[in-house]
Amino acid sequence: MPAFTATAPGKMILAGEHAVVYGQPAIAFPLPEIRARVIIEPKINQSPGKVIFEAPDVGITGSSETLSQDHAFNRILQVFQDHFHISQIPACLIRVSSTIPIASGMGSGAAVSAAMFRALAGFTGIKISDQEVSDLTFEIEKTFHGNPSGIDNSVVSYQHPIYYIKNHPLEILHLKKSFTFLLADTGIRSSTRIAVEGVRKRWEKSQGLYNSYFAEIGNIVRQIREDLAIGDEHGVGDLMNQNHELLKKIGVSNAILDVLVNEAIKEKAYGAKLIGAGLGGSIAALVASENAESVADKLKKAGAVWTLISTFRPGEK
Ligand code: PMV
Repeated sequence: MPAFTATAPGKMILAGEHAVVYGQPAIAFPLPEIRARVIIEPKINQSPGKVIFEAPDVGITGSSETLSQDHAFNRILQVFQDHFHISQIPACLIRVSSTIPIASGMGSGAAVSAAMFRALAGFTGIKISDQEVSDLTFEIEKTFHGNPSGIDNSVVSYQHPIYYIKNHPLEILHLKKSFTFLLADTGIRSSTRIAVEGVRKRWEKSQGLYNSYFAEIGNIVRQIREDLAIGDEHGVGDLMNQNHELLKKIGVSNAILDVLVNEAIKEKAYGAKLIGAGLGGSIAALVASENAESVADKLKKAGAVWTLISTFRPGEK
């Protein structure tokens, strides 16, 4: 049984986060430049079924026996075995690494799960479809994020830009043109669960108002889908700005996110917004590729701790 390696990309939500939990559409892009990687090596001298995990980036070393049963890595093993009716994984060492910032709105958790499911399938000689990787990753997301919409697991599994509505088949967006995004991390780790619960509490108190915000976000997402199809960066950028204003209204932005968004717009980005759950994490700006480096420098001066230039090219995974 040979060693097996699999990877999965980070992701950014171009528009529609939070509203997607309430049935509105959202659009997400994979970030192929940053990835989670899982390598599984057979360990023939180890007792059967023993799995050792090494994830130095997050300081985790342990085995399927020493880590608690509800640890994410053991949950992934369990979900995999249950789905494929496997009683025992051959003894192995699973190495996990990732270049995706943690809790920064770039899908690090979903990417680790998706890469691990693919690696486990490869290692055990099982053919796994993108939809299966997505469904299994969703099971893990549910354990750790409460009530996820399903967009994160979908985009990191399909590795294409997607138009997504909860509980509907996803639509892969085939774009004709390249788009360059500049992502900037505030360095403030944010909890998706806390942000989503906060929105839920405010929605419970003011359902009419929040439903109207979500409906506006839904309209923005539908317009962005059209602008993406015709390659209109100015249109997409304006709509990203509008989406950010609505994310402010639903209470998931903060001062540093707003500073970075405003700075990007000042530096001639087509548009910018927070991405993911908010309350920290990152922003994304749509930029002309030749401006990306200079906008990145400005955002670092304005407080970003890390930036990434990600260019989506048609036909690329
Ligand atoms: O924080 P992230 O990157 O996992 O994004 C969460 C996106 C939300 O719409 C806020 C939640 C969801 O489940 O869709």
